[in-house]
Amino acid sequence: MARATETAPPGGARPLSAEGLAELLEETRRRTLALIEPVSESDLERVHDPLMSPLAWDLGHIAAFEDLWLCRRAGRLEPLRPELAEVYDATETPRRDRGKLPYLGAREARAYMTEVRERALSVLERVDLSPESDPLNARGLVWEMVALHEQQHDETMLQTLQIAEAGVYRPPSRRVDAPPVERTGGTVLVEAGPFPMGDAGAGFAYDNERPRHEPDLPAFEIDRTPVTVGAYREFVEEGGYRERRWWSDEGWAWREAEGAERPLYWTADGGQRIFDAVEPLDDSLPVAHVSFYEAEAYCRFRGRRLPTEAEWEKAAAWDPERGEHRRYPWGDAEPDTARANLDQLAFRPQPAGSRPAGASAYGVLGMAGDVWEWTSSRFGGYPGFRAFPYPEYSEIFFGGDYRVLRGGSWATRPLVARTSFRNWDHPQRRQIFAGFRCANDVEP
Ligand code: AVJ
Ligand code: FE
Repeated sequence: MARATETAPPGGARPLSAEGLAELLEETRRRTLALIEPVSESDLERVHDPLMSPLAWDLGHIAAFEDLWLCRRAGRLEPLRPELAEVYDATETPRRDRGKLPYLGAREARAYMTEVRERALSVLERVDLSPESDPLNARGLVWEMVALHEQQHDETMLQTLQIAEAGVYRPPSRRVDAPPVERTGGTVLVEAGPFPMGDAGAGFAYDNERPRHEPDLPAFEIDRTPVTVGAYREFVEEGGYRERRWWSDEGWAWREAEGAERPLYWTADGGQRIFDAVEPLDDSLPVAHVSFYEAEAYCRFRGRRLPTEAEWEKAAAWDPERGEHRRYPWGDAEPDTARANLDQLAFRPQPAGSRPAGASAYGVLGMAGDVWEWTSSRFGGYPGFRAFPYPEYSEIFFGGDYRVLRGGSWATRPLVARTSFRNWDHPQRRQIFAGFRCANDVEP
């Protein structure tokens, strides 16, 4: 079966050895550097949009985060560049103000990344990764966290490269073929009952995926595939953006203030900009770059609703016959290109319903990759939540106006796209690679 890349990351369900962790960090770094390699120094250093950090800030931040967690906390070293701690603290300065910070230029940021990495790898040689070690080093937890953090920033940087004007970035012609579409449309029924939600404890997970608990859900139906461009186009063409009744109060206020008439990156004449190219809309693809409000309005237009995140996870992860929670929709095997469009290979979503090998136990398709999917749930802690290792990853966002997104996009690295992973953003955000699918109640 085709592998996603030759350098597909190790990891997954089992703790990695020190060599495995070093390889994961190195593979992650190769991908980060390859991503920005074609971008000019000045485009790395400037602000492309107030929603996004300068790319050079992301690079310095990746290194500062690694120095903090691997060298200082796990390895008890002094900070390499103490004066940079504040510059790269994401909670200190919101994205729109990061352009004013004294962040390193692209060349210096790369040198800083290399220097931190050398220190981190020397720490890795001497720390105890056994389960009896300290909570950061035990089973390599903080090492995997730092690699995933960098991988998540790669997706953030792709959002910046897409929001930037044409000319800043042309994706490589690397493509993965989408297997032919088997079936689209239709819904699957998920029977009522409890299921185990959240991290199984078998591999790395963020604090917000824990503790595992058992929500008891009423029966529901969920779309077999994400909402397509073709289906969404009917909403646009039938005046959905002018029809007050489809929108929530908040959603309508957003639509009016924004003047939104179609998804972000769609043109008025039926095209869509993907990085440096404007192309005709392709009706077969999952719709992308819609806000939570647009997703909600579309669902109402169809007489449907968004799934809750518990419903989403049950449909993606629960195998009712075996009584197992799957790490990926198809099981515990690592993602590959036959099962999911992940890993920054296709540089766009691929036709909805095209990867039957990636189906969940319920037969739901596209639940890993292509587009993140908005859910109706606000981001909060599961019952019994405890912040670890730091409250700034998740906890400080609980109770805000964030909605949960699930499933990962074409721009998500495979290790991130496990079924228990929770993403979140403000409901008005559209630069993220997000679409959605609809659900509905069923009469008992
Ligand atoms: C999980 C995507 C919401 O980008 O704010 C990166 C990931 N956290 N650095 C974000 C993250 C710290 C986070 N999201
Ligand atoms: Fe970060």
